Amino acid sequence: MSAGMDVKAELKKRAAEVEAYLADCLRARDIPERLLASMEYSLHAGGKRLRPALVLTFARMYGAQGSRIMPFAAALELIHTYSLIHDDLPAMDDDDLRRGKPSNHKKFDEATAILAGDGLLTEAFCLMFSCADEGNVPAPRLVRAAQAVATAAGSGGMVGGQALDMEYTARSDVSFEELRAMHAMKTGALITAACVAGAQLAGAEPPYVRRAREYGINVGAAFQIADDILDVVGDTKTLGKPVGSDERQGKTTYPSLLGLDKSRELANARADAAIAALDGIENGEAAFLRALARYIVERVN
Ligand code: IPE
Ligand code: IPE
Ligand code: MG
Ligand code: MG
Ligand code: MG
Repeated sequence: MSAGMDVKAELKKRAAEVEAYLADCLRARDIPERLLASMEYSLHAGGKRLRPALVLTFARMYGAQGSRIMPFAAALELIHTYSLIHDDLPAMDDDDLRRGKPSNHKKFDEATAILAGDGLLTEAFCLMFSCADEGNVPAPRLVRAAQAVATAAGSGGMVGGQALDMEYTARSDVSFEELRAMHAMKTGALITAACVAGAQLAGAEPPYVRRAREYGINVGAAFQIADDILDVVGDTKTLGKPVGSDERQGKTTYPSLLGLDKSRELANARADAAIAALDGIENGEAAFLRALARYIVERVN
């Protein structure tokens, strides 16, 4: 892949692989009809599939076969989708549009949306552990990777970050350090776990797992700064979610605290740091990851 690689097309290619697997991954289970419809409604509504793409890319970079770890990659998308369904609920961000469609609780109802989230989160662990079947992933590797995801998704990670986000929404004196730490939890943790788990599933040596972590932490930070910027300057149709949601709720964000220019500068600096974490790794997967770090800052959705 050259420097002029079409990163959007590459991401789409990986997303399509994930979607092929997601298409019927809930069908083998005995899920009540309306609950299944609600889970699939949000899961199949599109989305960039960034987190599973990171799992696949890091795993392949360190020699794993994509098909053996696909359920694990897909699991990250189930967890992410659950977080979006709950994030949109009236008790949280109260947003009516997600992935270009009515939010889950608007299409169904609040109880169903809450349960669809619970269902997706739990099914994600069934998918992760299914990678032990037929020896697709050696058990010790799988346990380490699943541990990384569980820790990142939980109350010291994404859920904890969402709790701080809600607490901070009621406050007008949120500091930059508080904001930075909250972003690292609510968004950075899961993105970092995707990178780390991908490397671990492939059996990468600890120094390379550390580089995956460093890349993830920085890409995760750049990603949420860009998300905050897009909430100000984006276009609802392109974004597929309401622009101006943060301001409407009085959230402290990078743009509200530092302005757009400084926010862009910091997002670019985090992308630079992510790229630096891959220094000296020269292969097609690393080239994609470098281009992806840039794309995350420049994206329009
Ligand atoms: C949106 O995530 C929520 C954040 C963590 C910022 P994405 O921008 O990855 O949403 P989709 O999956 O593409 O819809
Ligand atoms: C959400 O952050 C992060 C999650 C863990 C879902 P936001 O609330 O800014 O995400 P969007 O903008 O609604 O996608
Ligand atoms: Mg939110
Ligand atoms: Mg939100
Ligand atoms: Mg946002």
